[in-house]
Amino acid sequence: MIFLKTDEEVELMRQSNTLLGKTLAEIAKVIRPGVTTAALDRLAEEYIRDNGGIPSCKNFEGYPCALCTSVNEQVVHGIPSDNVELKDGDIITIDTCILLNGFHSDSAYTFPVGEVKEETLQLMRTTKQALYLGIEQAVVGRRLGDIGFAIQNHAEKAGYSVVREFVGHGIGREMHEDPEVCNYGRRGNGIVLKSGMTIAIEPMIAMGRRNIIIEDDGWTARTADRKPAAHYELSVCVRQGKADILSTFDYIKEVLGERYI
Ligand code: MF3
Ligand code: CO
Repeated sequence: MIFLKTDEEVELMRQSNTLLGKTLAEIAKVIRPGVTTAALDRLAEEYIRDNGGIPSCKNFEGYPCALCTSVNEQVVHGIPSDNVELKDGDIITIDTCILLNGFHSDSAYTFPVGEVKEETLQLMRTTKQALYLGIEQAVVGRRLGDIGFAIQNHAEKAGYSVVREFVGHGIGREMHEDPEVCNYGRRGNGIVLKSGMTIAIEPMIAMGRRNIIIEDDGWTARTADRKPAAHYELSVCVRQGKADILSTFDYIKEVLGERYI
């Protein structure tokens, strides 16, 4: 069942997403070679709670942390650890959800660590572009398949592949609501989008083949060929003519400056 949100509810969701955007920026400030993913997780949990939010990934279906920290070939759901230290040339996706005002927010960003190879930066750029092309389709009268098509088309034209085991989703009072938002699809397929639908769009794009493996921890998904993957996610509200983007990368942009891609 899809829950359309009222304008008031959308504003509450925007507040939750604003805190999430600020949290990702706090993490951006400390991402550098030598920092552990567990340190990032502690910082995020403290920041979220200090600002009245609940880190809603923690304990979600038994997930142990506030953040998902996925490094290089890890696609999603990498578990923060004191044993994982970032090194120069890595990329790391920070994906997290916050519950504030009774509403979940959900956003992810793939960051460079130190100097990253140009071919990897290109994967990151293309993935972020694919996200925005998907968002362009999140307007009244378009269909879900239009979003998936826009993402898949952009990624595959660049020679990359779309990871299919994980999808975007409706979001609101629950972290995962209907509908599922696939990152691949056919134009004109799927349900018609309506004003007030709130969805998290989150392409996961692999440099090599799209096949993934789940590690023995039961969570961490990595590419089978161990080539890197990137993942950007924003929560949006479907509107006439133009989607209302509820999450924001603006605070990240301020922190990264010219390193923002
Ligand atoms: N942000 C993830 C998503 O989009 C949420 C993962 S929470 C976890 O679904 F608990 F599953 F890690
Ligand atoms: Co999500």
